[in-house]
Amino acid sequence: MDNGLNRVMIQQGLKTDAFGREVYAFGKIDSTNRIAKDLAKAGKPEGTLIYAEEQTHGQGRWGKSWYSPWGKGLWFSLILRPKVNSSISQLNGMGVLSLAQLIEKKFDFMPQIKEPNDLLFKNKKLAGVLVETSRSQRSISHVVLGIGLNVNQKRRDFIPSLRNQAISLQMVTNQVVDRLTLLSDLLVQLEKNYFLLINQKVDFTVHPFNLSGCHPIKNEVGVHHAAGR
Ligand code: BTN
Repeated sequence: MDNGLNRVMIQQGLKTDAFGREVYAFGKIDSTNRIAKDLAKAGKPEGTLIYAEEQTHGQGRWGKSWYSPWGKGLWFSLILRPKVNSSISQLNGMGVLSLAQLIEKKFDFMPQIKEPNDLLFKNKKLAGVLVETSRSQRSISHVVLGIGLNVNQKRRDFIPSLRNQAISLQMVTNQVVDRLTLLSDLLVQLEKNYFLLINQKVDFTVHPFNLSGCHPIKNEVGVHHAAGR
């Protein structure tokens, strides 16, 4: 078992302005979303990244668990503090479309997006997004955006009950994927799309029967159809 990624490694490769400027990197913890919620309540700034090599109680939507073995995937959460309430409902879409765009760019295949938060390949789960919002009075106090991406699992690395339901980038591409570079590139894609969303330049609503992606609201320079692919 290698030591995995740590804070210094993650921060050295950063190409973002806000996302990952503050990093909490763990070996084995229960859930990055759980820790992110605590750190958000303690006032940590927007873009704070909580990363784990392994989660013992990774959380999925609808109370499901998210299998997160050591060193095989990217399991992380970001603290966000959007001021525009209307953007919150599109954060799932923003997360899942960012993943899809980056995967298409880097690995030359386009995963399926299953509304609202799943990324599939050949109907098997490649990644998932979990957005948790905390409201105080009438306003949003913070949002935690959790991302789970299966990266270097072989089929045997999944527990038996998941072997016909889950897939990893390595299984699709037949290559071992550098997780550090992937994380750094993913943070760039997420940051770019997040600021397009909160500045109301792009609509990231994922429609159940129209999975082609998001659309520019204003026809501004640098904003293209399908979110600038
Ligand atoms: C889903 O598809 O149901 C969403 C899965 C989200 C899993 C990620 S892994 C990192 C973050 N921490 C968690 O406990 N869950 C999310």
